[in-house]
Parts: sequence; structure tokens; C-alpha cells
Amino acid sequence: MVILGIETTCDETGVGIVRDGREVLANIVSSSADLHKKYQGVVPEVAAREQVKVIIPVIEEALGEARKISNLDAIAVAHGPGLVGSLLIGVETAKTLAVVFGKPLIGVNHLVGHVYANWLASNPKLPSFPLISLIVSGGHTDLILMKGHQKYQWLGGTRDDAAGEAFDKVARVLGLGYPGGPEVEAIASKYQILDTRYQIPKFPRPLINEDNFDFSFSGLKTAVVNFAGKHLRGGVKPTSGPHLEGEVISAIAYEFQKAIVDVLVIKTIRAAKKFGAKSIVVGGGVAANGELRSQLAVHGSQINIPVYFPPKNLSVDNGTMIAAAAFYQKSFVDPLEISADPGLFFETD
Ligand code: KG4
Ligand code: ZN
Repeated sequence: MVILGIETTCDETGVGIVRDGREVLANIVSSSADLHKKYQGVVPEVAAREQVKVIIPVIEEALGEARKISNLDAIAVAHGPGLVGSLLIGVETAKTLAVVFGKPLIGVNHLVGHVYANWLASNPKLPSFPLISLIVSGGHTDLILMKGHQKYQWLGGTRDDAAGEAFDKVARVLGLGYPGGPEVEAIASKYQILDTRYQIPKFPRPLINEDNFDFSFSGLKTAVVNFAGKHLRGGVKPTSGPHLEGEVISAIAYEFQKAIVDVLVIKTIRAAKKFGAKSIVVGGGVAANGELRSQLAVHGSQINIPVYFPPKNLSVDNGTMIAAAAFYQKSFVDPLEISADPGLFFETD
């Protein structure tokens, strides 16, 4: 079954074509991130206007010379959660294609798409159930128990900022670019772990010891903001060597990343142990983070649970994951019934 998936929930316009939920035939993503850089965050109207411009060219590029819409088996679209203006572009485009070409239409939850990026052929082995899924994106941080395909039990999530949102806000405070996650990661990697000249305190690990699967990152973000505000302009004293502001920024980025990764890893591993998980799957933009990948892999192997990540380009938003999830969902909707749903959440069983 060949499905074309459309993703326009935030600032990306992604179109992917996938065979049987696994084989990627095309993956085209156009991002308006550059247009948002000067605002250090997504401007919804700017994102939606750009999506109107690029959606048809992106679909055409994904189809390429050889493939025709008439040869596809279904059209899938992420219909929520996300920004309403952006969602509308994808949903209306998908509805139109389904009606004009007489194709079945599948509405996919964007978060479920992030989970199913792990079933693509880039992961040689398929995850087994029951599994724990950690979804970490710009808008969400959720722990989900899945006992089978499409069987979701929400265990907990963030009470305030999402993990990606915390990365983006800290990046802004440190004067780094947007999106913040990759910038924080890059500058954190410059910090020498053995270089103890800079006395950076450990930042808080909120809720890490609490017996629940909730997260809270706004206190961590505030701790970073306060520390940076007090110390960045010349306050942090090296015990030796020159005081380089850039190195202080690296140290703050490093300690922040360590704190957030510690919480995500400890809580995910605890959930995996409690529910007897056979695998852990991670999805969402923050799943591209190298420190999260390596720490979770190490802790997973200590308890003999394999940890799955999509490749980095399929961790961030894309249409391929929507086509993959649609294959396992196979519930068709009337194109005249489906609508953009900014607050869509998991359908639990
Ligand atoms: O899933 P995604 O592409 O869009 C949403 O659904 O929100 O996630 C975007 C988020 C942004 O907050 C971005 O800063 C973060 O993912 N991100 C990262 C990395 N790459 C993207 N965070 C940490 N490390 C990264 N390498
Ligand atoms: Zn996403």
C-alpha cells in the first residue's frame, strides 16, 4: 500500500511517500524556520502564508517524474495538534486531492506520526510491544504506553514547557539562533567536560524523584535564565585562564542539556521497568539530540531494553512519518468530515 503523507502542523511543509509503512519512496521537507529566525520563534501567520506557497511544489517534488497521484493507494494528513492556520493548509489540500482523485483519506495525529517514524526501514529491526514511547517536541513531552499498534495509554507529560520549548527559550537567553535545540547542542559539545575552570552549578532536575511520569521544565528554564542573567556578563570566574564569554555560554548550554536529558532518561527508564516494556521508542524534534540518544541507549542496554530513534531528519517534522502511521491506522475518513484539530490528543483505549 503506497500512501502520500502531508505534514503542516507547525512551520514545516512535509510530504512523504511510503510503501507499507516502511519503505520511504520520497521525503521532501520545506521549512520556513529562516523566516522566523529574527523573531526567535514561529510566527503563525508567516508560517501559514509560506505553506500556501510551497505545498503544491512540495507535493510535485515528492511525486517526481514517475509517480502520479492516481497510482497512490491513499492520502494521509496530520490534522492536529498544531497551529490552526498551518493545519488548515495541509488538511484542505489533502481533502481536495482525495475528492478530485477519488482516493481514501486518513487523518493522522501528528504525535502518533512521531512514534511511527520508528517503523521506517531506517531502523533495521521493528520495535516490539509492549513499548514505552517518549515524545519530545517543540510543543509536547509525553510518555505513552503502547500494548499494540494504535493502543495508547498516556502515562504523563509536561505540566508547563515542552522539552523543545525549553531548548528554544534557553537558546534565546544565550543569544543563540532558532530553532534552539540544535544550537544548544552544538555549543554544549564545545564544553570540555574535564575543563573545570568554570564553576557552573548543577541546574535543577524537576520532578526527577517523583513517583509519576510528569515533567516540568519551566523551573529549569528559569534557573538557567537567572544564572545567565547574573553571570554571563563577566561574573563567572575561571579559576585559571582567560575569561571567555563564549566558554561560559558553552558551559551553561552543557549543564542545561545534561539536566533536561537526565530527567527524560530517568523517567523513561522508570516507565519501561514498571510496565515491562520490550522496547523504548523516541520521537519528536528533541529525539535528534545526541546526548539524549546516547544516554538513553546506555541506560536501555543496562536493563536489556532496546531503544529506537528515527534518523535525525525524520525525528523533526516530516510527511513521511505521517504516511507511515497512516499505514497502521487504516481508518478512512470522509473528506468532507475531517477538519483541522489544533488540540487533538491521543485516543486512548
Ligand atoms: O517535532 P518538531 O520538529 O516540531 C514540533 O512538533 O514541535 O520539534 C521541534 C523542536 C524544537 O523545539 C527544536 O529546538 C527541537 O525540536 N530540536 C532539538 C534538536 N533538534 C530539534 N532539541 C534538542 N536537540 C536537537 N538536536
Ligand atoms: Zn513534531
